[in-house]
Amino acid sequence: MDACAINGFFSPTQRERYLSAVSGRRSVRTYLGDPGVEALSALSYTAARVALPGVRLALGDAQDAELYRHLPFVDPIRGTRKYAAVIVDDAVPNALIHAGVSGEAFVLEAAALGLGTCWVAAFKRGGVNVPLEEGEKIRAVIAFGIPGESGGSRKRKRLSEICSPDPTDWPLWAYNAAECVRVAPSAVNLQPWRLTYAGRTLSLSSARSGAGLDIGIALLHLSLGVGDKPHHIRWGEGREIAALIVEDGIK
Ligand SMILES: Cc1cc2nc3c(=O)[nH]c(=O)nc-3n(C[C@H](O)[C@H](O)[C@H](O)COP(=O)(O)O)c2cc1C
Repeated sequence: MDACAINGFFSPTQRERYLSAVSGRRSVRTYLGDPGVEALSALSYTAARVALPGVRLALGDAQDAELYRHLPFVDPIRGTRKYAAVIVDDAVPNALIHAGVSGEAFVLEAAALGLGTCWVAAFKRGGVNVPLEEGEKIRAVIAFGIPGESGGSRKRKRLSEICSPDPTDWPLWAYNAAECVRVAPSAVNLQPWRLTYAGRTLSLSSARSGAGLDIGIALLHLSLGVGDKPHHIRWGEGREIAALIVEDGIK
């Protein structure tokens, strides 16, 4: 089974920074304006740095009404012009999962800079003013800017609903990783991830058919959640999408 491109991709410092941003991150839909110049240049660098194979994150400007579709029961996104287009080349294996990892790394870097973000799948393609190469598609945009709200309360499934066997019996590293996945963002808050633990391995599967951005987001959170415990990730087979394996005998 193939190793995953996420292995060794983020430095220990980046991993620590992203992990520290996980608990405070919420989707923000009301903004007070665009980020300042310094934050923008930091995020331009991040967009280039975090792109896994088959992924491109391109920063753009748009009026909110031109870019975002209105969804029932969800506050509209307003107050920032800034977004990152999450662009995928489907010819590259696992590119959509990679896009979830890379986009979420961008989100957590923005959160670490004190900015608000919101993943948006309900956007108008005509509102994205980023040129595309042949074979590329925009799979989502990430709105970002100065937060004008602290974000809503976190509604999540219980760990026991997404984990088997009962996670209260898991070692701390596996429990922490599962908790880090539990608080990750997902489209329509569906939380489609499932985790199973045995021995040194935590397996990630999807409760829905196929694996998309949500699963990539969960994969990054899974990896961050084990902290500095040495581990590697390999792609799975059948229903298992990927598995995280901790190294034997260390910590
Ligand atoms: C791939 C993806 C697509 C999303 N699309 C939208 C969207 O179109 N509009 C929106 O308002 N929120 C969208 N969200 C935000 C989710 O609704 C939000 O992550 C979820 O409700 C959990 O809330 P939290 O991010 O505050 O923890 C999306 C999230 C993800 C991960």
